[in-house]
Amino acid sequence: MTKSAKTKSARAATSLASIPGTLVLVGAGKMGGAMLDGWLALKLPPKKVVVIEPQPSRAIKALAKRGVRINPKGPIKDVAALVIAVKPQAAAEAIPPLAPMVSRKTVAVSIMAGKTLAFLEGALPGAAIVRAMPNTPAAIGRGITVAVPNAKVSAGGRRLANLLLGATGAVEWAPDEALMDAVTAVSGSGPAYVFLLAETMARAGVAAGLPKPLADKLARATVAGSGELLHRSPLDAATLRENVTSPGGTTAAALGVLMAGDGLDPLMTRAVAAATRRGRELA
Ligand SMILES: NC(=O)c1ccc[n+]([C@@H]2O[C@H](COP(=O)([O-])OP(=O)(O)OC[C@H]3O[C@@H](n4cnc5c(N)ncnc54)[C@H](OP(=O)(O)O)[C@@H]3O)[C@@H](O)[C@H]2O)c1
Repeated sequence: MTKSAKTKSARAATSLASIPGTLVLVGAGKMGGAMLDGWLALKLPPKKVVVIEPQPSRAIKALAKRGVRINPKGPIKDVAALVIAVKPQAAAEAIPPLAPMVSRKTVAVSIMAGKTLAFLEGALPGAAIVRAMPNTPAAIGRGITVAVPNAKVSAGGRRLANLLLGATGAVEWAPDEALMDAVTAVSGSGPAYVFLLAETMARAGVAAGLPKPLADKLARATVAGSGELLHRSPLDAATLRENVTSPGGTTAAALGVLMAGDGLDPLMTRAVAAATRRGRELA
C-alpha cells in the first residue's frame, strides 16, 4: 500500500463521511437496505454510494434524488468498499461481475450466511475480504455483527469494515473463522429463538386461562421490556433473573421447571448445536 493510500484508509477509519472512494452495495434487500440507511444516517455522502440491485424498492429508488447511483451503466471505479448482501443462492451470479471493481484499496464485506472466506477468495481472487454475520435487529440499529477478515485485510480496511458494520449495531471480531457457524447459531438465528419464547409464553398463558389477545400482549411486552432492560442495565442476565426471583415465590416455582436437568439449558444447547451443524453442512 502506498503512503497516501494508507493515510486515506486511516482517515476512513474515523468517519464514513470521509470514506476514501466509492461504496458499492450489491443487494439492497432487507439487510442491505438497513445497512444503507445506517450509513447515510452516519453522514456517508450519498454521491459516494452505488447500489446494484435488480429490483430496487421504492425507498431505494427515492435515494437517487439524494445522489445515490442505482445500477449505473459502465465501469465503477475507485471502490473503497464492496458490500455483498445478496442471498447466498445468488452469490454465483452476483459476484463474478464485481471482480473488476476490486483493487488494492478495496475491502469486500460479505454478509452472506455460510459463504466462507475460501469461497469468497475463489470468487474475488486477491481481494481483501471480511466475512460477517449480522442479525435482524440491525433493522432498528440494534443488531450485533460478528466479522472475520482474510489475510489481505489491512488495519485501515478492518476499521472501514468496522464502521460499515457498526452502522446497524455492535460489532465483534471472531479470532477464527471456524467459530462462524456457532456465531450464526447464537446471534444470527437467535432472534427467532427469542420470538419463539414470546409465542410459547403466550400459548402457556392461554393454557393457564388467559384470553389469547391478553396473553399475546403480555408475552410480547414482557419479552420486549426484558430485552430493553437487559440492554440498558449494567447487570448480567443471571443477576437480573435473580433480582425478580424471591425464594419460594411464583418466579422460583417456574424457574424450578425451566432450570431443571431436562429444562431450557439442555434444550437450548441442542438447538444451537443443530444450527451449528446445519451451518457446516450448508457451507
Ligand atoms: N435477514 C437476516 O436476518 C440476515 C441475517 C444474517 C445474514 N443475512 C444475510 O444477508 C443477505 C441478504 O439477506 P436479506 O434478508 O437482506 O435478503 P433479501 O431481502 O432477499 O435481499 C437480497 C437482495 O439481493 C438482490 N439480488 C438478487 N440477485 C442479485 C444480483 N445478482 N445482484 C444484486 N442484487 C441481487 C435481491 O433482489 P430480488 O429480490 O429481486 O432477488 C434482494 O433485493 C443474505 O445472504 C443473508 O444470508 C441476513
